Amino acid sequence: MEPATTILAIETSCDETAAAIVINGTEVRANIIASQIATHRRFGGVVPEIASRRHMENIVPVVAEAMATAGLSFTGLDAVAVTYGPGLVGALLVGLAYAKSLAYALDKPLIGVHHLLGHIYAGFLQYPHLPLPAACLVVSGGHTSLVYLESHTCRRILGATRDDAAGEAFDKVARVLGLPYPGGPELEKLAREGNPRAINFPRAWLEEGSLDFSFSGLKSAVINYLHHARQTGTEVNLADVAASFQAAVVEVLVTKTIQAARRMATRSILLAGGVAANSSLRQELAAAGREAGLPVFCPSPALCTDNAAMIACAAYYQYLRRDFAPLDLNAIPDLPLIN
Ligand code: KG4
Ligand code: ZN
Repeated sequence: MEPATTILAIETSCDETAAAIVINGTEVRANIIASQIATHRRFGGVVPEIASRRHMENIVPVVAEAMATAGLSFTGLDAVAVTYGPGLVGALLVGLAYAKSLAYALDKPLIGVHHLLGHIYAGFLQYPHLPLPAACLVVSGGHTSLVYLESHTCRRILGATRDDAAGEAFDKVARVLGLPYPGGPELEKLAREGNPRAINFPRAWLEEGSLDFSFSGLKSAVINYLHHARQTGTEVNLADVAASFQAAVVEVLVTKTIQAARRMATRSILLAGGVAANSSLRQELAAAGREAGLPVFCPSPALCTDNAAMIACAAYYQYLRRDFAPLDLNAIPDLPLIN
């Protein structure tokens, strides 16, 4: 039997300072997240400079807490993993500087992880044997992509958003509905009290056969709807607006994911990224998967939003093929998702 591989992963790409310790890509020994939501809420969004400063304050105690929770000392680690992009450059650099110093001091390999690959590997953390090839819908605050996962080393982007990411659309619409940051989960809560069929907001299917997405038209339609109601003095049911907006996003995401799975003849479907925490999306995709005869895997909501356990899992598969990074690894804010 192979000896156990213990990886410490660090994630600071946006507004969560996170550290996790995962053994063999599946056994989570610690998963610590210091959220900055309260700090950024009064600005209505993440302020990059403030995020970097908070990461600097949090990184040492968050890693110390992860080590203590796992009951480990640094010498018990086999590798140090870190997110190096995409994300806010100043935020990424804090995690990177810490991870590189630690890897150097311990003389252990450094593993650079793509943030979106981390989101995808939240799926393998929870379901290590999910059948491949899989069609993976990655929906986060910054990205919306359909990814064909052939194997752990071979993947291909089938479609992506041409404008706003799904999470970004949730956040922007939540803001015009007067909901606090971060808007996605707040909008979901409000939508539960509304009628998803009350308003027929547009669905951007794009040209025939396209697996790309577009959400900016839908966002504008919601803004126009509210503007028009205000001008004409019509009363608006905000829960209906939230529910109808959510239904439009979910319908397009689910339909295109099933199309992608069918076209590529995949054996399963995986949902990933912060928006994957949305229960309407989870339910609708599960139902569509059942109808198509395809198993749908949705990691638990806490693993869908930003965390370091998913980064540790992605890093484990890189560790197995000795995909290590040099100690001059730099932050790449717009790092593309390739193999
Ligand atoms: O993956 P993530 O934690 O960070 C990024 O990498 O962007 O995703 C954050 C995004 C935000 O836009 C947030 O509003 C959205 O995911 N989100 C949700 C829900 N939970 C988080 N959107 C809709 N419904 C939710 N329950
Ligand atoms: Zn993320």
